[in-house]
Amino acid sequence: MTLETHDQIIEKRRSNEKGTMMSSRGVSYDTLLGFNFETMRGKKVLDIGSSLGSNFSEEAKKYNADVVSISPDFKDKTPDNKNKNVAARVQQLPFKDNTFDYIVASYSIPYYLPYDFAEYNRSISEILAVLKPGGKAYFYPINTEQKKLIKKVLSQFANFTTFQFAEDEGGGVSKLMLIKK
Ligand SMILES: C[S@@+](CC[C@H](N)C(=O)[O-])C[C@H]1O[C@@H](n2cnc3c(N)ncnc32)[C@H](O)[C@@H]1O
Repeated sequence: MTLETHDQIIEKRRSNEKGTMMSSRGVSYDTLLGFNFETMRGKKVLDIGSSLGSNFSEEAKKYNADVVSISPDFKDKTPDNKNKNVAARVQQLPFKDNTFDYIVASYSIPYYLPYDFAEYNRSISEILAVLKPGGKAYFYPINTEQKKLIKKVLSQFANFTTFQFAEDEGGGVSKLMLIKK
């Protein structure tokens, strides 16, 4: 998979006539990740692996979603700072249990995670901890190898979660929806 340059990403966003904020892939976040923005109206949402050029939170604001964005690239570790950009990694989320109604991760994790059971296990445990019961987490893209490892990790959490992979048009790339029971 080839990541686009920052200029290519910005150009795709500019050329979108409807003014919808686009993901890195030039596709709207709801299409990319497989959710409906309406369901996020007024809800608490965590964007994992957001970049400062990322527009997920801008788009979600149109639906009055309360979005917190995390990235190891951010400077401020205070969760309630003005822009709600928090310096953090998915492996150690600085939030209380049962905080978020929704979690999204586009082109961040598992893409940037080391391919390692312990790393995936830690990340998924943290995600399940901060999701509210009934909350949903959406991830894209996931390749075939990552999918196998995720399934292995999730087999341990069968009492706490249900999940569904949906395959993309080709190349064995999937999106994942995780629901906390
Ligand atoms: C391609 S960029 C973000 C793309 C953005 N989500 C979008 O769709 O436009 C990937 C981001 O993931 C972040 N990242 C890398 N490792 C991470 C980790 N372990 N936990 C959280 N974020 C991570 C990077 O710092 C970067 O901000």
